Formats: sequence, structure tokens, C-alpha cells
Amino acid sequence: MPKLRIGMVGYGFMGRAHTNAYLRVPQFFPELKYKPVLQAACGRDKDNVKAFADQWGYASCETDWRALLDRDDIDAVDICAPNNMHKEIALAAAAKGKAILCEKPLSMNTADGEEMVAAVEKAGVANTIWYNYRRVPAVTLAKQIIDSGKLGKIFHYRANFLQDWCISPDVPQGGASNWRLDVATAGSGVTGDLLAHCIDTALWLNGGIADLSAMTETFIKERKHATTGEMAPVGIDDACAMMCRFKNGSLGLFESTRYACGHKALYTFEINGADASIRWDLHDLHRLEFFDHNDESRLRGWRSIHVSDHGGGHPYMDRYWVPGLQIGYEHSFIHHAAEFMKALEQGEPCHPTFRDALETTKVCDALLQSAAERKWVAVN
Ligand SMILES: NC(=O)c1ccc[n+]([C@@H]2O[C@H](COP(=O)([O-])OP(=O)(O)OC[C@H]3O[C@@H](n4cnc5c(N)ncnc54)[C@H](O)[C@@H]3O)[C@@H](O)[C@H]2O)c1
Repeated sequence: MPKLRIGMVGYGFMGRAHTNAYLRVPQFFPELKYKPVLQAACGRDKDNVKAFADQWGYASCETDWRALLDRDDIDAVDICAPNNMHKEIALAAAAKGKAILCEKPLSMNTADGEEMVAAVEKAGVANTIWYNYRRVPAVTLAKQIIDSGKLGKIFHYRANFLQDWCISPDVPQGGASNWRLDVATAGSGVTGDLLAHCIDTALWLNGGIADLSAMTETFIKERKHATTGEMAPVGIDDACAMMCRFKNGSLGLFESTRYACGHKALYTFEINGADASIRWDLHDLHRLEFFDHNDESRLRGWRSIHVSDHGGGHPYMDRYWVPGLQIGYEHSFIHHAAEFMKALEQGEPCHPTFRDALETTKVCDALLQSAAERKWVAVN
């Protein structure tokens, strides 16, 4: 059985989520030819990375990602470092001929993303971006339902990603915990961090976006910087709202914020077609709600599908327990890792590829431009 020896860069939230996925893939997808092997973990702090490697079962450690890429016993690099590191690591990994699994967003901006796409395509290395919500069974089912034509002509696409952890002005920006609030490390605020997920799902389910109009706001203009201890201007967007036209003629409404008191990770979408509607909520991620206008009128209403019935054809669920028992957030990463192994075996791209994810980055950039210039912007 061929091994895919993984070099993991970063051991935070995503480093753990991906490592868990690599460990589970051979158990739940035993038919796959490629088997991920936890070859090396990389982080800047020797003791911390060693503790992570020991806890999760990596065979070795590195404290410099360049040393990781120099190793012949690493087949694939997984980039779980903050956004400003993605490009440099990906370009170097492509030059070394490594397969690349990179966290979202692809890049800090479109120009960087284009360089990354050119590099992986020139090198011919397998590549993917971890827009993992595509792999939640209910979201995959939504894709299947839309592709089957059951919704008919689509009129509306609505999505939100709401959090509330930034409301206090005492939350610092920068440093290990709050790099998302530092524009130099994150690139943007909620647009690239949260709305990017909504956009990736939307492009996948409903096709490309033609043009958009958006607003952003930075509610707290100055925060202490964790590395200097000094107050510094906040360069990220705290909240964004976007209306757009999809290329298929439907209208989109999107909102994201870290100031929606009471919401921790409320990712929802709803799609309205001529014949039917669907909606999904991350807090109930195993359910897909469906309304069919063609139902007999006396019985017509929203139905709540518990996406757990593999006998009923629910995606991925044949891998797990008996019908009626659900799975969770971490499984979206297991599924994405499994799809990557399958794509390698078949010599096919694993979507979203760097090129697919560049479309999301283009929409994010158009959103930020529209907000800055207060005008409609075409997505190029
Ligand atoms: N797919 C998702 O749903 C999802 C969720 C969270 C984060 N992310 C993305 O994953 C990436 C990481 O986010 P996170 O939440 O895991 O962050 P985190 O802060 O929890 O972890 C980041 C890790 O990167 C390491 N790191 C930083 N600079 C490094 C360097 N120069 N060399 C080696 N390691 C370095 C840190 O030590 C830390 O271990 C980001 O790009 C983020 O946007 C995606």
C-alpha cells in the first residue's frame, strides 16, 4: 500500500483537525490505496512541537518549515499556519515537487493566489484547499439535490457566518492567539476568515458570481498589539455585508461579523428555487431542511432531513454507524482527506484545488474593493 508521508506545518486548531483526519482515514476508508503517514510535525517552538508530535503520533519534528521541505521522506505538505505563511510555503513546496494541502483562504490576495496557482500547475503537484464545509454530508447532499435539478431555476442564495468573540475592546490584536485581528498576518478580517467559507460553498452550489456591492466596518479602530504591547490601528474588517448577482441570474445576500452577540459560529445558507428550497445550519450540521412546492398542498411544509441514512443514499454515511446516528464537525476533515487520497489514486484533481479557491479569493478582493470605493465591482 503506497504511503503518503505528511509534513504538517502548524499544530494549532487546524493542525489538530487535520491530524485527526489523517489518523481516521485508513479506518473509515480502508479501500483507499494511499495511506497517510504522520511523518513530521513542524512548528517554531521545539518543546511545543515535540509535545504535539508525541501526543498525536508524528515520527519526527522540525522547527523550520524549510528543513521540512528539504526532506526526501516527506511526500505532502499540509499548511496549517496563519494566512501570511501560505504563499511562501506553497511556492517552496511546489518547487520541491511535494503535494500540497493548504488551509483556507488560499492567499492574502488575488495576486498572491495567482502566483500559487501558477506554481502548483507548473510543478504538476497535487493540491487542494481545505474548504471543509463542502464535505459535511448535509452540504454534499445539498449539492446533489441542486445538481439533480430539484430546485428548478434558482432565484436566491442567502448565507451568514456570525460570531461574537471580538466585542470587547480589550481583546488584543496579533500574537499567537489573535493573529486573525492583525491585518499583516490575516490579510483581511471576517471576509477572508469566515465569509470565504460561505463564498466557497456558494460557488460550488450555485456557480460563479458576476458582480457585487458590499460594505465593511471596523467597529473597534485601535487595539493593543500583542507583540509590541502598544495600541495600534486595526486594519481588518470586523463585519461585512455583500449583495451580488450570480452568473445564473440569481441574487445573493451574504453577511459575516464577529460582533453578533450570542452567536459562536452560526454558518447558515438558504437557497430558493422555482420548485423547492433548501437550508442548512452549522449548529445542526447533520440536518438539511427541504421545502418542495410540488408536494400535495395540504401536506406542503419544510421537512427536516436527518442526513444519517446511508441506505437512503446520504453521502459518506455508509462509513459510520447505523442509520439515525449522526457524525460531527471533525468528519468534514476526514472526508476531505479521504477525497484527497482518492483523487491521488485516480490521478484526478481534488476539489477545491488552488485554482478553484482562487475564485473565492477574487470574490473576497472584489468585496473589499467595493466596500472601500462604495461602488459595484465586477468579479474579474
Ligand atoms: N477550514 C477551516 O474551517 C479553518 C478553521 C480555522 C482555521 N483555518 C485556517 O487554518 C490556518 C491556521 O489557523 P488555526 O486556527 O489553526 O491557527 P492557530 O493559531 O490555532 O495555529 C497556527 C499554527 O501555525 C504555527 N505557525 C505560525 N507561524 C509559523 C511558522 N513560521 N512556521 C511554522 N509554524 C508556524 C503556530 O505555531 C500554530 O501552531 C489559517 O490559515 C486559518 O485561516 C481554517
